[in-house]
Amino acid sequence: MNAIAANVVQLFNSHFMAQPAVYFSPGRINLIGEHVDYNDGFVMPAAINKGIYYAVAVNGTSDIHIHAADKGEDLAENIQDIRKGEGWANYVLGVVQEFLLLGKKISGFDCVFGGDIPIGSGMSSSAAVEGGMAYALNDLFDCGLERTELALLCQRAEHGFPGVNCGIMDQFANMMGKRGEVILLDCRDLSYRYFPLALNGHTLVLINSKVHHELAAGEYNIRRRQCEEGLTIMKGHGINSFRDLKTADEMMAYRPLMSELVFKRCLFVVEEIIRTQKAARFLQENNMAELGELMFASHDGLSKWYEVSCPELDFLVEQARSDPAVIGSRLMGGGFGGCTINIVRDDAIDQFVQQASDHYQRRFGIRTETYLVETSGGTGPCMTN
Ligand code: GLA
Repeated sequence: MNAIAANVVQLFNSHFMAQPAVYFSPGRINLIGEHVDYNDGFVMPAAINKGIYYAVAVNGTSDIHIHAADKGEDLAENIQDIRKGEGWANYVLGVVQEFLLLGKKISGFDCVFGGDIPIGSGMSSSAAVEGGMAYALNDLFDCGLERTELALLCQRAEHGFPGVNCGIMDQFANMMGKRGEVILLDCRDLSYRYFPLALNGHTLVLINSKVHHELAAGEYNIRRRQCEEGLTIMKGHGINSFRDLKTADEMMAYRPLMSELVFKRCLFVVEEIIRTQKAARFLQENNMAELGELMFASHDGLSKWYEVSCPELDFLVEQARSDPAVIGSRLMGGGFGGCTINIVRDDAIDQFVQQASDHYQRRFGIRTETYLVETSGGTGPCMTN
């Protein structure tokens, strides 16, 4: 058992009496396909070996006791009286609430959770918190939900108490991840394919900008509304989905019909959906150079058209662009801070990381963190011996 899981179990033992079941719920990366999961697009995420560990036991009462190890905070609620709280509590209680809304027979439990995904890093700590709770409840109370049902439940949970109108990418990757594979997920109908993550002498390197602009959740919902506004206009002209446009040029016809801001958002979405489909082909063909170019283009679109980047992320991507050993780099996740994802030649990782973080520190006075992540399976029981 790794040190984090051991710590979670130890904390459980010091807080509660019973023998807990232990689960691991992963964070995720996304190769490409950003902000298109709620726009009928394709995404290419993978679950990773950083995540949240849960120790949970049914307690035979109607009380829920939760200890958040990383915050050192406790929560006690009665299951008949679940209501919106603050911060992390909303992600956990939101899941409990969704089980109740489905009419599932769940009762009191004791729980400790903690992990190693920095909050706001773009690796979706929120989906990991939701997924671990959902998997545990489904398992311990025998609720019989399938993995995709759990992913959808967690998405509803995030729309609920936390109030973030997220797409399905994070929760799907969290539940459906497979070691060694990325998922090409069609967010229109949730059909998916696994692709081996064969990077041909390259590694995925995440660089954490260590900034998290608090705008994120509010701006996220605004982006969604702007896309809806654009699509409504296009629907009046027979376009039912951003996917119906096969080239970015086709978008030009709609420019006079919408505000410049809404046009920019829609243009990004159309381009990103096309890019992601191309990226899947390049990954299969082992064409790293073209895959990398698409990642840079994705970042440029996120920064210029979708406006979810920030000076810190732009700087890190520019650093990467000027390094010949980096074939692709872009911001990852919702944006406004968090990590960039970089595809870096294996023999040049140390040098790239060193240079990028030195320059970043000189410019912003912030020390980056770097993660060489591996793909992992989706949420599930964690071996405790
Ligand atoms: C967040 C959301 C996802 C997705 C990404 C952007 O992580 O939870 O649904 O929209 O942002 O791609």
